[in-house]
Parts: sequence; structure tokens; C-alpha cells
Amino acid sequence: MAQKLCVCLTGSTIQAQLSTAREYQTLAHLYETRLDFLFSTEASSFLLVSDLVLFVNQLLQLGRPVILTARHRKDGGVWPGDKEAWRMSILVSLAKEFSTNGKVYIDLDWGVPELDALAKELVNASLGVLRSIHSFDSSWTPKDLEERGNGLFEAVEGEARRFIPKIALACEGIAQTRAIFRFGQEKRARGFRSFLVLGMGEYGLATRVLTQWIGSEWTYSTPLQGGPAAAPGQLDPRTLEEVYGYSNLKGTETLFGILGNPLSHSKSPQFHNDRFRSVGFPGVYLPFRTDDLAAGRQLMDDLGVKGLSVTIPHKEGVISWLVDRDDGVAAVGACNTLVRTDRGWKGYNSDIPGFLAPLAHQKGLLRALVLGAGGAARAIVFGLGKMGIEVTVTNRTPQRAQELNEELQPYLPTTLLNLDWTQAPSTTGWDLIVQTTSVGMDGKSDPFDLYEWTGKEVAYDLIYTPEQTPFLLRAQRAGCITINGWPMFEGQGQVQSRLFRRLTPGFLPDITCV
Ligand code: ATR
Repeated sequence: MAQKLCVCLTGSTIQAQLSTAREYQTLAHLYETRLDFLFSTEASSFLLVSDLVLFVNQLLQLGRPVILTARHRKDGGVWPGDKEAWRMSILVSLAKEFSTNGKVYIDLDWGVPELDALAKELVNASLGVLRSIHSFDSSWTPKDLEERGNGLFEAVEGEARRFIPKIALACEGIAQTRAIFRFGQEKRARGFRSFLVLGMGEYGLATRVLTQWIGSEWTYSTPLQGGPAAAPGQLDPRTLEEVYGYSNLKGTETLFGILGNPLSHSKSPQFHNDRFRSVGFPGVYLPFRTDDLAAGRQLMDDLGVKGLSVTIPHKEGVISWLVDRDDGVAAVGACNTLVRTDRGWKGYNSDIPGFLAPLAHQKGLLRALVLGAGGAARAIVFGLGKMGIEVTVTNRTPQRAQELNEELQPYLPTTLLNLDWTQAPSTTGWDLIVQTTSVGMDGKSDPFDLYEWTGKEVAYDLIYTPEQTPFLLRAQRAGCITINGWPMFEGQGQVQSRLFRRLTPGFLPDITCV
């Protein structure tokens, strides 16, 4: 069964909402009109119930069910606080108007006496009724969710089993993401067929994409162009389809993801899902923003996630999960790829082959200078050393460069050298200079601005935003071959993708794995 996508209409006029609904008709399985947005402007004083009835009928003509929602400010909506009586009267009027229409739903906040009374009146109506809780207080615990959520589900069961309970809670940590998944899965196991359980904010993203895994009836999504997001963390419908293939997910796909914090700008979900689709691999890859690694691990186990990318700040922390590791992880002490095996997690460092990939066709690389001695530099020094290249490390804090060399030296066939940071710009004879510090991300600074490029060096900067740092620009002007961090990102991602795909029995990766 395909997953259902509800397009939220948050325009401030009927015309704006209708136009968004038409634009997204092919992606929408249903619409939610947010009446509170219509009533948030001065012009709304002229809106009559008859205008709204006409509007809902126009929406229904687009051939999709319609949810009517008028959310109060305290529940994350924009309905003016001083016009609560008006909100009640509109909801009551619309509920009565559409009570025999099986294509219309109405969202009634649970625990508001007038709306509880209205719900009772609608027990035998054909109209769908959502009983909802929205909470923006993110200080809740899994126990709070159980108590509150059970209260809602039991009350709704008592009102009418065909009513749809909805609970949307703001999440501020992955332990809460996990609690939401567990809550939904437990309700499904108890026989609830129709409900909505979701986490708001970036931590809740997976609960919005994996609706079949959690048991939710549909996901809510606001078009970026169509008005403000109806709730925090909602994705644009096109993003849901283009990045995650949302509507085509069946709930049987193998799960993968990335652990890190923050992840909102990560390009990995698009990259991996594109690759899975391009070879017809039945997998889906999600960002799992992770503040707490132990809770993250539990969620990965609950969901049966089979492979993970790992990024800042967890590349060292996940090493304690490993039952097995490749040489790169052992030497560098950082792991950016996890693959689930029968015995537990195996760790790989795909940054190393990823970094080397764009150098594969460069001839005559005998002497390399590495700027920086942080986590990224460790992988680079190890990779270059393994290739038999003579590597010199220079770092603003000399002690870090020395420590790096001492730790990696036992794993490498060549001698690692150190160079003073202030003297490095006046040296010559490098075939390759690799920039691993964060300097240059601002598009203005160059940590090696005193160096005179000869035009013979390969200049490699791990930064890819901006595409061309001042470091690369000066090197290019001098006639050097330049490489930014994007091929490394792609290279490490390709290695990960092959590792992930070869987990599926019978599915052969497109090229032999590392
Ligand atoms: P990463 O894992 O991305 O490498 P990191 O471990 O924090 O991040 O390392 C950052 C590197 O950038 C270090 O080599 C750091 O130098 P110090 O060890 O002296 O801190 C370097 N770096 C950061 N800001 C810098 C600056 N303004 N000038 C020179 N080097 C800088």
C-alpha cells in the first residue's frame, strides 16, 4: 500500500489556498485547509460561513478528501486568541454542513469542552473526525507520551472507533523520536487501524517520512511556496517525493540513514536515495538527528536500520558500538560508515577511499603537504601514507600535528614529517597540498595565503561550500590542478552505497566493493 500525503494549505486567502491545491493536485492524496490562516488577516472579517462552504466544495472538486482545521495559537495555529467563540461557531457550522459527506474530515482538538460535545454529536455522521493533541512543550518524557497518548486513544475508542486520534508533539532529542515510533507501533499492534502519531521539529523528521512504519494514516506536508509551514519540521511535498520517494514507499524497504547533529543541510539523503533508485534498490535513507548516541542506537535497533553514515560529532563515539572495523577506522580512530552484520555493527571509514578517488588519475604524487591536524586530516594522512606518498603535516597548534604523526606512523609504510605552521608557506617542492581546516568556508580567508603557488602542485581543499575557496582560487590562477571537497563527498558516498546495497541478499552491487 502506498503512503498517503496530505498537502496543507496555509495561504491567507481562499484564492491562495485554491491555487496551491491545484498546483499540488498530482502529489496530494488529501488536503488540509488551515482555516486559521484564512482568519489571520484583517480581510477575514468579511468571510462568511457560506464562503467557506463554497471553498470546501471547490476543493472537493479536485477529487481529494479535505480536512478542515482551525488551529488555535496555543496549539501552533494562528487563530486569533480573542476570537475563540468565532472558531467554535465556524467549526460547528462546517461540521453540520458536511456531516453527511464521507470525503470531508474535521479536526477537533481533544479536551476542549465545546469540541468534545461536537464530536459526540458527530458519532453517527459520515464526516471523518480527527481528535487531536498538539504540544509544543518539548520537555515530555516517554512516560508522559504514554499517559497522555493512551488517554487520547482510549477516549477516542470510547467516542467512536472510527474517529482518528492524532498526537503531534515537539521533539528535542532522539529519545523522543524513538518514543513516538514505539507508541505508534504499539497502537498498531493493539489493533488501531487509523491514527496519526508524529514528532514535530527536525528530530521528528523520520516520523513524518516513515508513516507506514509508525502506523500513521498519512503525513502532513506544506508546499514551500504555498504559505508558512503548517507545523515545525513539515517538509515540502516535492522534497518528500524527490528525496524520499515518499508515496511509493511500501513499508517493506530496507532502512538506512545518517547519524549526526545538526543534519538539516546534509546532502546525504538525496545522494543515497538517488543512487538506490537509479539501480532499483528497495531501500530508503533518512536523516536521524542524534544528540544522544545510546538512544540513537536503540532507535536504529527498533527500526532494524541496516546501514548508517555517521557525521560530526559522532564519528568517534560510534566506535564503541563496533564488533568489527576496517583498517582505516582502527588507525584513524574515526568511523563514518556502519553496516549491520549478524554479530553487530561493523565500522568502515569511507572518507579515506573517498578522498583518494579524485587523485586516482594524478601521476607523480610523491610529496604531499597536509594543512591541519583535526579529524579530517587524520583520514587524509592515513590514505596518502598508505599510497606510499611522503606526507608532511603542518598545523596551527604544532602539538596536535606531532600527536597525529605519532599515532598514525605505526600503520604506515612511509615516514610522516612535521613542519612549523609559520614556516610552511616558504617551503617548495610539493606535488600535492591538501587543505583540511575550516578556514575558507566563509569564502574570504585562505590559511595558506603567504605561499607562492608554482602551478605544478595539485591543490585539494576538503571544503565544497563555497565551491571555490580563496585557497583554490589562488592555486588555479597560478595554473594548478584544483580539486574541492565535492568529489570526496561523492566518493565516500559511493563506497557507502555499495556497502549498504551488498547487504541485501540477491542484490548485486553495480561495481565491486572496496
Ligand atoms: P575536523 O574534524 O573537521 O578536521 P577539527 O578536528 O576541529 O575538525 O580540526 C580543525 C582543524 O582546523 C585543526 O587543524 C585546526 O587547527 P588547531 O588544531 O590549531 O585548532 C584547524 N583550524 C581551525 N581554525 C583555524 C584557523 N583559524 N587557522 C588555522 N587553522 C585552523
